Amino acid sequence: MTDQAIHRPAALTITPRDRRFGAVSSPGRLWHGGRVEATAIYNALSTTFPKGEAFFVESVRAFRDGAPPQLAEDIKAFTTQEVIHSREHDRFNQRAEEAGYDLSKLDQRVEERLAIGRGRPPVANLAATMALEHFTAILAHQLLADPRHLEGADAEAAELWRWHAAEEIEHKGVAYDTWLHATRHWTRWKRWKVKALIMLLMTRNFVVDRTQGSLELMRQDGVTGVRAWAALFRYLWVWPGVFRKIGGAWASYFLPGFHPWNHDDRHLLTAYEAAAKGGAEPAKKVRRAA
Ligand SMILES: [Fe+2]
Ligand SMILES: [Fe+2]
Repeated sequence: MTDQAIHRPAALTITPRDRRFGAVSSPGRLWHGGRVEATAIYNALSTTFPKGEAFFVESVRAFRDGAPPQLAEDIKAFTTQEVIHSREHDRFNQRAEEAGYDLSKLDQRVEERLAIGRGRPPVANLAATMALEHFTAILAHQLLADPRHLEGADAEAAELWRWHAAEEIEHKGVAYDTWLHATRHWTRWKRWKVKALIMLLMTRNFVVDRTQGSLELMRQDGVTGVRAWAALFRYLWVWPGVFRKIGGAWASYFLPGFHPWNHDDRHLLTAYEAAAKGGAEPAKKVRRAA
C-alpha cells in the first residue's frame, strides 16, 4: 500500500469547475464591503495567484513521471484547477487595475521570489509548493467555514473566492502526495527536515510579502503609517482574525505523520456544492484537460 493510499480519502474526486467571473460587471475599487484593509489583503493575495499557481503546477508536474495511476490522475485534475484559477485571478487583478490600483510593485515581488526558485533543485520547489498549498488549504478552510471572512463583499467577487477555496480544499493532498512519491527513498528524518525548513522559510516570505503588498495597496487608498498597521493587524489577528485561527492547522504540518487529509474537511465541499446549486450560475464541471 502506498502512502497516498493510506491518507487520501478513497471517495475523493477532484473536479475542475470551469467558472468565469467578472465578465459583465466589475466589483469596483473597495469591493470588500468598502473596507480598505480587507480589499487590500485579498487583492494582495490575488496578485500572487496567476504566476504563483503556474509555479505550483510546474513544480508538481516535474515529478509526474512514474507516479502511480491515482496520483497521476490527481496531478492532472490539480493542474486543470490551478490553470483555471490563474485565468480567473488574472481577470480579477485586471479589474483591480481598472479600478485604479497599481499592482506593479506586488507583481515585481512575486517575480523576484520566483526567480530565486528557478535556481533551486526541482524537489525544493516541490517542497515550497507543498508548504504553500498547505497554507492555501487552511486559509480556504477558514474562508468556507466562517462566513464573516467575506461578509459585506461584492457578491460575485465573494463567489470567486469561495469557488477557489473549495477547489483548494479538494486538491490539498496532491502536492503532498507528489512529495511522498518523489522522496520515497529518503529517510524520514531528511524528509521532515527539508519539509520543515522550507515551511518556515515560506511562512516568513508569505507573511512579509503579503503584509508589504497590503500596506502598498492601502497607501494607494490614502491609509498609511500606524493607521494602516493597526487596521491590518486587527483584521488579520483579531477580527475576523484569519491568522489567529489557522495557527493550530499551520503547526500540525510539523507533526510526524502529518498529511493534509488527516483533517477531513470535505463537509465544506458538500456545503459549497449545495450552495452553488442554488446560485445563479451553477458550477459547470469540465473534463480534465491537462
Ligand atoms: Fe488555486
Ligand atoms: Fe492549489
